[in-house]
Amino acid sequence: MTDLAHFVSGLPKAELHLHIEGSLEPEQMFELARRNRIAIPFASVEELRGAYSFSRLQDFLDIYYQGADVLRTEEDFHDLALAYFRRAAADSVVHAEIFFDPQTHTDRGIPFQVVADGLLAGMLEAERDLGVTSRLILCFLRHLDEDAAFETLAAAEPWLDRIAAVGLDSSEVGHPPSKFRRVFDRAGEMGLLRVAHAGEEGPPAYVHEALDLLHIDRLDHGNRALEDAALTTRLARSGMTLTVCPLSNLKLCVVEDIDAHPIERMLRLGLRATVNSDDPAYFGGYVNDNYRALIPAGRLDAHDFATLARNSFLGSFLDDVAVTRHLDTIDAYVAAAAIA
Ligand code: ADE
Ligand code: ZN
Repeated sequence: MTDLAHFVSGLPKAELHLHIEGSLEPEQMFELARRNRIAIPFASVEELRGAYSFSRLQDFLDIYYQGADVLRTEEDFHDLALAYFRRAAADSVVHAEIFFDPQTHTDRGIPFQVVADGLLAGMLEAERDLGVTSRLILCFLRHLDEDAAFETLAAAEPWLDRIAAVGLDSSEVGHPPSKFRRVFDRAGEMGLLRVAHAGEEGPPAYVHEALDLLHIDRLDHGNRALEDAALTTRLARSGMTLTVCPLSNLKLCVVEDIDAHPIERMLRLGLRATVNSDDPAYFGGYVNDNYRALIPAGRLDAHDFATLARNSFLGSFLDDVAVTRHLDTIDAYVAAAAIA
């Protein structure tokens, strides 16, 4: 590993854009299929991995929802979460804010309770045994209707003290944020923070809607905001955090070439960009793979990578005391590395 790759790998960091269902590795998928006596339409781990070739978001979503079918019990969700946290801890992640898609499971007859309690048990164990703190973000599937989102929010009520925020994911184009304005209003009244995927494949207008109609506290992806100079300025001035996912962008053809990824431009424009893995089991890597993928282009130096890591805490839903503590550990790490 180069010195810069080594530096980046050891940087203390938070992960703010991670779909827990997207951390289901093929090996674990086969293991859960065996445990739950479910047939999966692939003969081997290699054959399954070979199917992970996508030319747009929907190609991925089709296989991702199919893969989630092996998740059936509280233990499955616990094991899924813990497997992610082990990998995250190995990547110097000390805090993670993870998405889950309850409708993917409740629509298959898996009770909300099974999903939430399993994930929360894994999160508690990760904090106790690995020292990784976490928050849970409930995502509504935007290809479904607003009534279904309201039903999901109602089902979540007993867990609201353990859910930090609501989010919006799945097929973006054709499902603008405006479709979910009322349910996001309700979530806000219930004291939940709000985030949304916008500007991944959808136009800058969807980012405007996420800001103006959903009142988001954080923007997931946001790449296409760069097409609108006034919007970019607004995001920069307001200190909005963007949870950017480089390897996801490459795999889903949001960017043509990783060396052409706009993250450096985002930083120079004053955007609070962060680096995240999105669906690491499907997109070729966890958070450090995403940070390291940005090195070969040669446009980011160690200070830029430290900024990206700082942004991950500044954009987190941690309280100010915890954020300051994490920023202090980054400062100490940078000082110890004696970077020029
Ligand atoms: N669900 C899981 N990953 C997603 C992504 N990158 N965009 C939209 N929905 C998703
Ligand atoms: Zn995502």
